[in-house]
Amino acid sequence: MKKWIFLLFVGLTSYGFYKILIHPMKLYVATGNPHKITEFKRLMALHGVDFPVLFGGDYGGMPEVDENGDSYEANAQLKVEGLEAKIGEGRWIVAEDSGLEVSALSGDPGIYSARFGGKIPQTERNQLLLSRLSNSSDRSARFICCYCLKSPDGKLYFFRGVCEGTILAAPQGGQGFGYDPVFQPNGEQRSFAVMSDEQKDRISHRAMAFNALLRFLKNAN
Ligand code: IMP
Repeated sequence: MKKWIFLLFVGLTSYGFYKILIHPMKLYVATGNPHKITEFKRLMALHGVDFPVLFGGDYGGMPEVDENGDSYEANAQLKVEGLEAKIGEGRWIVAEDSGLEVSALSGDPGIYSARFGGKIPQTERNQLLLSRLSNSSDRSARFICCYCLKSPDGKLYFFRGVCEGTILAAPQGGQGFGYDPVFQPNGEQRSFAVMSDEQKDRISHRAMAFNALLRFLKNAN
């Protein structure tokens, strides 16, 4: 092997070890949800995150967690603690919980967004939401996202992002997931499900919460 190839190999390998083992910041993301992982990676790339980040598959899978908290914060914390019980204390661990709050439904489905209407397909869940609002002139709603971060010294930090909008009269668009087709963010003439990932990433509740999380981590690193 040529000497310069050998030196390049040693350099890259050392840098890899530095990033994984010695770098002061290594973040465990408490999720195995492929959609959330993709979105987190997209936001990381957008902001040039340069520390190692590990997801479900990297640490042998996210353990099952009973999300029985009474707030997004409590549920996100339960996910953090669920992973901590598996991988041990003294690490940076982050988890997220989110939901849609509809004013005319007194904030429902809120923390129950993923389970609204029981075990039904999301298209039916969206129709159920629209039927509950059929007599309502108040269509205002908001997506909420909360990140819970635990630092190696055991402190908890919470970061919230909110995206205000309205519930449309009928589903619109085929992108995204969840309630995207029925939610139109304020200042837009289209639902989340019509937007590209990049457009949604500029205004979404998760992007807002992620920005706050990242600002904190960059100062902590
Ligand atoms: P979680 O996995 O317990 O956080 O569930 C959050 C639920 O809220 C999801 O299953 C969706 O139904 C809904 N949700 C949260 N964020 C979004 C979003 O950006 N678009 C559409 N639905 C969302």
